[in-house]
Amino acid sequence: MILKTFMREGIMPLSVALISTLSKDGGVRNIAPYSCIMPILRPLDLICIASATRRDTLINIRETKEFVVNMVGVDFSDKIVPTAKVAPPEVDEFEVAGLGEKRSETIRAPGIAGSYAWMECTLFKEYAEPDFVLILGKVLRLEVADEVLNAAGELNVAKAQPLMMIGSKKGMHFCTLKDIGMFYSFGSMFREGKDPLADRYLEKE
Ligand SMILES: Cc1cc2nc3c(=O)[nH]c(=O)nc-3n(C[C@H](O)[C@H](O)[C@H](O)COP(=O)(O)O)c2cc1C
Repeated sequence: MILKTFMREGIMPLSVALISTLSKDGGVRNIAPYSCIMPILRPLDLICIASATRRDTLINIRETKEFVVNMVGVDFSDKIVPTAKVAPPEVDEFEVAGLGEKRSETIRAPGIAGSYAWMECTLFKEYAEPDFVLILGKVLRLEVADEVLNAAGELNVAKAQPLMMIGSKKGMHFCTLKDIGMFYSFGSMFREGKDPLADRYLEKE
């Protein structure tokens, strides 16, 4: 079947993250689901978020230069529509969705309690087009709940059950991940069997 070219998210399941921000005066807490979000290469500490221009999230990020990317599991599936609904900027979306705060360590914007991981970010740069903005964020602090890690300290997807989404013409199907038990080192991609970026991981330890 040949699909229309705009149906990209119909064939690539996307993570669903909740972005939490504060208004300029710090008085209003905002939450919005975002799926157009990705890390920029490895082992950098930058992420890229595609935002429509008319978003309180974007206004808050521009004005406060900070935000938290909260990674949530399927237990948050009933929080997506309440936080996605258009709400006036003065509405506190933690209250609307019945969500609690997790205090951030490096920025003022709070994270969301019950998420399985939190990225505290500052605005690094943005690229603006008339209809959308690419927000580049620098991750200042990255925390993950111990209970979703395996013995090697890596994400156990069966425990975290990351919330994901597949788009259709009419809406969104929500799903999660399944580990297929396969692992390859980065080195296995290179002829010498050595990862050329290995030293950069060591520098960052
Ligand atoms: C699963 C899901 C993913 C979404 N991803 C994005 C996204 O990547 N970028 C975006 O601009 N809007 C996205 N939206 C729409 C916003 O969440 C929605 O417009 C929200 O009301 C924005 O809130 P705000 O104005 O408080 O920022 C998504 C919505 C859902 C339900």
